[in-house]
Amino acid sequence: MSDTRPTYDFVIAANRLPVDRAEGENGTEWKRSPGGLVTAMDSVMRGRDGAWVGWSGEPGEAPEPFDDSGMHLHPVALSAEEVRDYYEGFSNDTLWPIYHDVIVPATFHRRWWAAYRTVNQRFAEELAKVAAEGATVWVHDYQLQLVPAMLRKIRPDVRIGWFNHIPFPPVELFAQLPWRGHLIGGLLGADFLGFQREDDAWNFQRACRQLEGYETEGDTIRVEGRTVRAAGLPISIDFADLESLARDPEVQKRAEEIRESFGNPQVLMLGVDRLDYTKGIRHRLKAYGELLRDGEFTPPDVALIQIAVPSRERVEAYKTLKDEIELTVGHINGDYSTVEATAVRYLHQSFDRAEMAAMYQAADIMLVTPLRDGMNLVAKEYVTCRIHDDGALVLSEFTGAATELGDAYIHNPHDIQGLKNRIVQAIKDSPEERTRRMKRLRDAVRSHDVQKWAGEFLDALQAVPSDEAQKAAGA
Ligand code: G6P
Repeated sequence: MSDTRPTYDFVIAANRLPVDRAEGENGTEWKRSPGGLVTAMDSVMRGRDGAWVGWSGEPGEAPEPFDDSGMHLHPVALSAEEVRDYYEGFSNDTLWPIYHDVIVPATFHRRWWAAYRTVNQRFAEELAKVAAEGATVWVHDYQLQLVPAMLRKIRPDVRIGWFNHIPFPPVELFAQLPWRGHLIGGLLGADFLGFQREDDAWNFQRACRQLEGYETEGDTIRVEGRTVRAAGLPISIDFADLESLARDPEVQKRAEEIRESFGNPQVLMLGVDRLDYTKGIRHRLKAYGELLRDGEFTPPDVALIQIAVPSRERVEAYKTLKDEIELTVGHINGDYSTVEATAVRYLHQSFDRAEMAAMYQAADIMLVTPLRDGMNLVAKEYVTCRIHDDGALVLSEFTGAATELGDAYIHNPHDIQGLKNRIVQAIKDSPEERTRRMKRLRDAVRSHDVQKWAGEFLDALQAVPSDEAQKAAGA
């Protein structure tokens, strides 16, 4: 195809587009895609004249490029086999468990790896068509780790950044991957690599040194006469935008309705997660069930809303998790609900932003208990919506967010007794103490919002000298 399509100076690539295609009764409908990546990048892209290259969420032919909310969206096609092998297989049944401390065992298949390479090549080729001469290309997440080197090969003129939204594993776990050298080589095609925490960037540098023999100095890696920088740059949310939604009188009215629907309990707790084994939902329910058993509190004085957004439902570990969670919720409700009051209201659904803002406002205690999480933007969303500086965030130490949100009620979710103690402390602390903590949490998110993060990432990407400059300087 001779390409007469427009090109862009700023292009991002992520496995998913910000909207998912769904065939509904009225034909094709587009829904917002799940997950933290889309939450963050959606706000970054609005107002920039850039293109977003990604999958439309359904197998089959790619729709033609189209515009949505001021963004130019360029769908990439995945066949049904590629959805199975590249997306469900290699991305979410090989890489996802390895990058999340092997909470469930990882599965290795050479066929999955072949599909991962093929799809990454397709993304690189699409980017090469969409990027203008000298453009900035920003690649996202673990599904596209080969894209930087593949793109550099076709288009050495563009500047390439990559950001990892999930943790980067310790070298001992990363080393299990039979294709580890290819993954490192793929990433080192970028000029700048961003990670959620310094620790993740160090893990990557260690893997480069120990497994592939690269020389590193400070936060840079020497690659065939170039230097690549790898640094920690924690992602955030659009504080001002979400806060103004939380101030909307309609949202506040809805928050009151939600509390009333529980009979205005003294303590309303909330959990909001994709239904993923990394999120520690079982540990949270165990702690909550034990607190009810111990008589620490009882419905209707207390209630828990658990939102579990459907995710990766054809991957075995996710099916097992769903069964376990639903069984546990059934047990807790069977044992502790009353005719009038439900102990856990479990919702296996996703909700729009306004409804989420109302739930965050309705909840006295937010339970964020992952066993491992790159960042956890739900924690940041909760504190943003606490416009009266009240409420309490119970936050796992194994989230990226814990690095910045040290004023939360930090806990180790494996330590069920410790988690119970933290929940009780959050409930029993004085309102003044909760306000003191919440003010500081809100300051932390306000002063480091997603625009600041994106600005820092793009500045760091521009600051890396170009190939030509490095060659001219004899680097
Ligand atoms: C996490 C990942 C994203 C992913 C999202 C939803 O936030 O970092 O890359 O898009 O989960 O998962 P899904 O598999 O539905 O895209």
